[in-house]
Amino acid sequence: MGTSHRKPFVGGNWKMNTNAESATALIGAVSDRLRASGAETAVYVPFVYLREVDTVIKQSGSAVRLGAQDFSEKPDGAMTGCISLSMLRDCGVTSVLTGHSERRHIIGETDALVNAKTRAALDAGMQVVLCIGEQLDEREAGQTDAVNERQLRAGLDGVSKEQLGMVVIAYEPVWAIGTGKTATPDDAQDAHAKIRGVLAAMYDQDAATQMRILYGGSMKPGNAGELLAMADIDGGLIGGASLNADDFGAIVDATGV
Ligand code: 13P
Repeated sequence: MGTSHRKPFVGGNWKMNTNAESATALIGAVSDRLRASGAETAVYVPFVYLREVDTVIKQSGSAVRLGAQDFSEKPDGAMTGCISLSMLRDCGVTSVLTGHSERRHIIGETDALVNAKTRAALDAGMQVVLCIGEQLDEREAGQTDAVNERQLRAGLDGVSKEQLGMVVIAYEPVWAIGTGKTATPDDAQDAHAKIRGVLAAMYDQDAATQMRILYGGSMKPGNAGELLAMADIDGGLIGGASLNADDFGAIVDATGV
């Protein structure tokens, strides 16, 4: 586990999965499973089930944060199909994802849009998990650190040191997402340490030391322990394995708190 002063964070990104019945059952089981954990945890739920999931979280007295996977950078108005931050707040959301690779590379979000969303969410008082990470061709071309630095600098452009306390970074190598392939603990540690170095250059050493940097990409109960044992890996952003409460719970347990 990363240095002990950083509270571990584990997020479950449900993506476009669950239905009303399974979302309610899953959050009930997750809330029970995580009751004794000292880690900070969150679930990123499809918009249409946010209220149902929020109700279960509140009824169970769970400390799991309710999160959303996306939102509009605009406050209101003519934006057909979009969801605003104030709508999310109405539903009980306190944490959001920005820059997820599926939104960058499938939907086409640019660094500029990721930055606009990150700033809007921080201005709205939300916690932001900013996702970054290289694609396979970029990794093979030796560009992993350059891509991470570009996405980090662009994503956090205009974010103050004070706001940085509400930011978590998730390093998710795109080739590891949903593929069953993970970065080796050493490769992930190397990327995380470089990301922390960029934060020190952008802000200062203190800000870099405080930042939680999560690993994401096929993290499972069987590999979480060795990844979370690395000095600069402070938690995980979990896709597939977050759809099973026992698997998600085992990963949270692997943070050791
Ligand atoms: P998987 O854990 O399914 O690889 O997904 C990771 C991810 O994209 C979390 O945001």
